[in-house]
Amino acid sequence: MPEFFSESPEQTAEIAQQIAALIPAPAVIQLTGNLGAGKTTLAKHLVEAWGAAVADDVSSPTYTLIHEYGEPVAVYHIDLYRLEKPSEFYGLGLEEIFDSPARVLIEWGEKFAAFLPKDRWIIHIHHAEGDNRRIIVSRP
Ligand SMILES: Nc1ncnc2c1ncn2[C@@H]1O[C@H](COP(=O)(O)OP(=O)(O)OP(=O)(O)O)[C@@H](O)[C@H]1O
Ligand SMILES: [Mg+2]
Repeated sequence: MPEFFSESPEQTAEIAQQIAALIPAPAVIQLTGNLGAGKTTLAKHLVEAWGAAVADDVSSPTYTLIHEYGEPVAVYHIDLYRLEKPSEFYGLGLEEIFDSPARVLIEWGEKFAAFLPKDRWIIHIHHAEGDNRRIIVSRP
């Protein structure tokens, strides 16, 4: 299980390069960690590493729920934080996205883990004190 330690957002950007190389498309990737752990920060740099957009153009999908990068779409970035019910989850049309040839990054996917594809990646970001983060890549 690959494990990384980051002491700054800049180091997380470098780690993203390494993680990006581990995950071929298509893939569903659950980004797990507390509020402010750095899920969106990592996602920005994964999107850039996969060549779908520059990191500065990647913003949190907290309110918009789904962002798409690339033409055709190479990376979807999804945030389920604001969803409460399975009916809301199903309303998003994620089945089609999961079946697409893209990489799909999902924040707060653990809220609907039972509905996510079994064949997926989990990136867990443990937020210790200060800027330190422990980033673990695994499969369920
Ligand atoms: N080592 C680090 N790696 C990543 N981010 C860090 C690190 N140290 C500090 N930070 C800061 O922590 C914050 C993480 O915010 P980010 O939006 O990425 O978290 P998140 O997990 O997506 O939060 P949310 O649960 O609200 O979606 C940023 O302000 C970032 O600069
Ligand atoms: Mg976020």
